[in-house]
Amino acid sequence: MLLCFRLQTQHPSPLSLHHLFPYQSLVFSETHFRVFHKMALRFPQISGLSLSNMGGNGLRKPKFFSFSLPSFSDSSSLRFIKRDGSNKLVVYASSGTDSAPITGVVFEPFEEVKKDFLAVPIAPQVSLARQRYLDESEAAINEQINVEYNVSYVYHALYAYFDRDNIALKGHAKFYKESSGEEREHAEKLIKYQNTRGGKVILHSILNPLSEFEHAEKGDALYAMELALSLEKLTNEKLLSLHSVADSNNDPQLADFIESEFLTEQVEAIKKVAEYVAQLRRVGKGHGVWHFDQRLLHEGDAA
Ligand SMILES: [Fe+2]
Ligand SMILES: [Fe+2]
Repeated sequence: MLLCFRLQTQHPSPLSLHHLFPYQSLVFSETHFRVFHKMALRFPQISGLSLSNMGGNGLRKPKFFSFSLPSFSDSSSLRFIKRDGSNKLVVYASSGTDSAPITGVVFEPFEEVKKDFLAVPIAPQVSLARQRYLDESEAAINEQINVEYNVSYVYHALYAYFDRDNIALKGHAKFYKESSGEEREHAEKLIKYQNTRGGKVILHSILNPLSEFEHAEKGDALYAMELALSLEKLTNEKLLSLHSVADSNNDPQLADFIESEFLTEQVEAIKKVAEYVAQLRRVGKGHGVWHFDQRLLHEGDAA
């Protein structure tokens, strides 16, 4: 007997068949059936496997059949049963004295939930929701919260500087105030995520930023915008480090969160601030800065 099938494991057990048979397709012979049987005895929680016909060799329409190895004891059997009118077959491995076929059961939740790693914690200080969330990831999120707060604080200092009566670059003040708010929102988004995963938020200290931003050669507007560009690039570096922590800890959910909520926005922010730096370099320190400031002030106004 020789059959070609594509192998699909329906059971979510970590003892996936793909670990045992790292092939997309197999040629099944009696030897393979014996291996299935041994595996079923060794891992009794695997109660069902799906095999779909690859076609070819005249096997596109397999007929119903069941299969038992002659050497099996009475207490164990392997059965191949055609599931429906399609080309799909289901193989059931059963052990024990009950030789009745397990019809359609590939997942036994009440048995599965007895596993230790699914146990619900009792201690009141322990998160109930936490699952596959490592301490390193938790700490990395707290560090990123601190980065966002620090950048927010610097932007707030810039807002306060440009809003002074003797500086009076209102567009810059508005831009930095909004930027400060955005960074705080990023911190809050990370706080919410930390709680979602069952981690604990620990807020670290934030440093007091500069309060003067005048620069003899560049002027304050260009100097501040170059500082903003450096901060955005630094934030991006920190986000990429956080993403690498997610990768190394095999935490695809954390990686997806960083990718979808932060990385795209971050590179767009870098592009925007880089353009502002380029434009401020063109306009010089006098009237050009005022003109640029007016543009910032009215950016976002209804056309
Ligand atoms: Fe940010
Ligand atoms: Fe930012």
